[in-house]
Amino acid sequence: MWAYVNGAFVPDRDAVVSVHDRGFRYGDGVFDTLRVYDGRPFLLDEHVGRLVASSKTLGIGGLPPENALSALIREVISRNGFSNALIRTTVSRGVSDGWEPDPAARPSLVVVGRAFSGYPDHLYRDGASIVVTTIRMPASDLDPVLKSLNRLPQVQAKREAMTRGADEAVLCTDTGLVAEGCVSNVFCVDAGRIITPPASVGLLPGITRGVVIDLARREGLACDEAPFGPEDLQGADEVFLTSTGMEVLPVTRVDGRQIGGGRPGPIASALRRRYHIRIRESGSERSLPSP
Ligand code: PDD
Repeated sequence: MWAYVNGAFVPDRDAVVSVHDRGFRYGDGVFDTLRVYDGRPFLLDEHVGRLVASSKTLGIGGLPPENALSALIREVISRNGFSNALIRTTVSRGVSDGWEPDPAARPSLVVVGRAFSGYPDHLYRDGASIVVTTIRMPASDLDPVLKSLNRLPQVQAKREAMTRGADEAVLCTDTGLVAEGCVSNVFCVDAGRIITPPASVGLLPGITRGVVIDLARREGLACDEAPFGPEDLQGADEVFLTSTGMEVLPVTRVDGRQIGGGRPGPIASALRRRYHIRIRESGSERSLPSP
């Protein structure tokens, strides 16, 4: 396995960054995870665009341009012969002696991958279970779109989900509104209307979330961004999660209570099928000869 670290391709086991790296010391950086299907990165431009935008928000300069980042990601895929995989790109503000950012420091840039064919089948067949955690989304002055390395609330929430035997935890805002999962966005369906919290409540509006909203509307389904509380999850006809890794994952238990009769709902199932069609279409577009 090969990884890209600061200008060189190295065997994955030798892929290391300095102990003085600010990503390690302060979480001073950003990351992104994308999915590879049949050897092709899905939504590559969107993922690279988000990574670069997040870096800019933090004032981390000196990254290669977007097309060079895309080429690096493609090279990690081809060198490893990945067919289905997750590729993680991490950027940090680089190395500094002390707390103060060093304006002359070069950013650290790491691209690693691992074979990945999706979450276990039984989660899609039977539905996932989620718990609503008491851990709140951090109140932050930073743009919530920022996919920073600071993930402690999500890590703590995930640990709580694991202790409670659930697959994912949902975090609420400090006013008690549903925000998002640890690594996913949350949707619910009420009387045929699909709802997901708006970015303005303070969440990472995932790339998958955006695709799924678009797919739903193209299907002629009512799909709105609107705030809701944990009690609305309990009372929903359907609940589902979206993320790069999960795609569209039906939820059949919230805090131990059954949702929609305990079976994955028709809307989540239809959107998952549409999502797979979108993946296939993106592959065939790319393999067409350029005009
Ligand atoms: N995370 N919200 C949070 C907090 C996330 O960490 C993620 C994804 C999402 C979904 O975003 P997307 O649809 O763009 O994957 C929402 C990635 C997968 C990660 O943690 O690596």
